[in-house]
Amino acid sequence: MTTAPAAPAFAKGLVGVVAAETALSSVDGANGILTYRGLNIHDLAARVSYEEIVHLLFYGKLPNKKELTKLAADLALNRKLPKGVLDHIKSSPRKATPMDVLRTAVSMLAYYDKDTEDISIEATRRKALRLVAQFPTIIAAIHRVRLGKDPIGPRAKLNHAANFMYMLHGELPSKLECDSMNLYLVLLADHSLNASTFTSRVASSTNADLHAAITAALGALKGNLHGGAAEATMNMLLEIGKVEKVDGFVEKAFDTKRKIMGIGHRIYKTGDPRARHLLEWAAKMEHDQGKGQRYVDMALSVERAVLRHKELYPNVDFFSAPLLYYLGIPTALDTCIFAASRIAGWSAHVIEQYNDSVLIRPGAMYIGPKAETFASLEERV
Ligand code: COA
Repeated sequence: MTTAPAAPAFAKGLVGVVAAETALSSVDGANGILTYRGLNIHDLAARVSYEEIVHLLFYGKLPNKKELTKLAADLALNRKLPKGVLDHIKSSPRKATPMDVLRTAVSMLAYYDKDTEDISIEATRRKALRLVAQFPTIIAAIHRVRLGKDPIGPRAKLNHAANFMYMLHGELPSKLECDSMNLYLVLLADHSLNASTFTSRVASSTNADLHAAITAALGALKGNLHGGAAEATMNMLLEIGKVEKVDGFVEKAFDTKRKIMGIGHRIYKTGDPRARHLLEWAAKMEHDQGKGQRYVDMALSVERAVLRHKELYPNVDFFSAPLLYYLGIPTALDTCIFAASRIAGWSAHVIEQYNDSVLIRPGAMYIGPKAETFASLEERV
């Protein structure tokens, strides 16, 4: 006698489900440890450039000097955008969110990339490098058009972070601004199977191309439970307005079950290792640019007030919010800046998925009506 196989356990929100193998990054939530290809994020933060992280994720190792020079040159060569994409950015409606314009621009890049339909590993790496190079150009153009200004073209002699800041603001960044942007880009480059990365892997598991997978990932990043949390955090700090008002705000938030943005994490339950680096650099930026503003103090007060209610810690978006604010980035652009970093991780995951692909297609627990009787159109009431 054969018995039916046991139904697999249902895990709402896929909590606790392991859905992919990856050699890219590991997240140890209990101990608050993040590694990129085995290298602890604390050893990488503020010691490597974003370009080095791109090499690490795409080619499996930190580059030597020659490899880094080549990769940096490749990125610098590929920063420009096709005219059609620039026209789209310039003609996007005023009320379109930067993430909507970015997502559409990335989808449009598929029209112009000569390798779009080629999903071989080599072609996907070429496309991925182009996307890493093009994301800052798109985002800076979106920012400037929203300000009613002309986009500024890239400067090949500047490194990735410096060029990004230059295209955003139209002037050469200070060393501190450049290093802060670089640190941010390094820290957010990859993070295991977060929602947007999972989305990119689901799309590429169907053999969809890189631009399709990245467009899907951008959709998943937009929400405020994921990439949208930095914007929501900064808006919350602006709403609180003063350090003295923090305790009352947090008290009321818990009473009314309003979520405190930038706090809590699905995996990290003892703290997010990236947060302390972002705090340190946000404080440096505040000291340098803050003109008496105290958003870092305010964020620290929120952290303390939350801990008096529940064991919840700041996540990556919490101190990113003041850091990006002091870099002169409007809150509406924060999620795009996140995407400018995560494009490296998404692309590396798509390559990993193609390397050992199986269609990702989970089941669902059906909870609708059973054995309904069909009624013809005439019979239906
Ligand atoms: N503010 C207030 N309460 C929070 C909270 C927050 N930011 N995050 C979690 N909690 C509460 C939950 O309501 C829940 O309370 P309960 O046990 O009384 O129901 C408890 O803490 C456990 O959280 P849980 O909902 O199980 O966590 P999760 O793994 O499902 O969700 C997040 C993780 C990230 C979605 C959640 O922490 C959150 O919404 N944070 C704010 C958004 C954010 O910063 N997102 C960026 C993530 S990197």
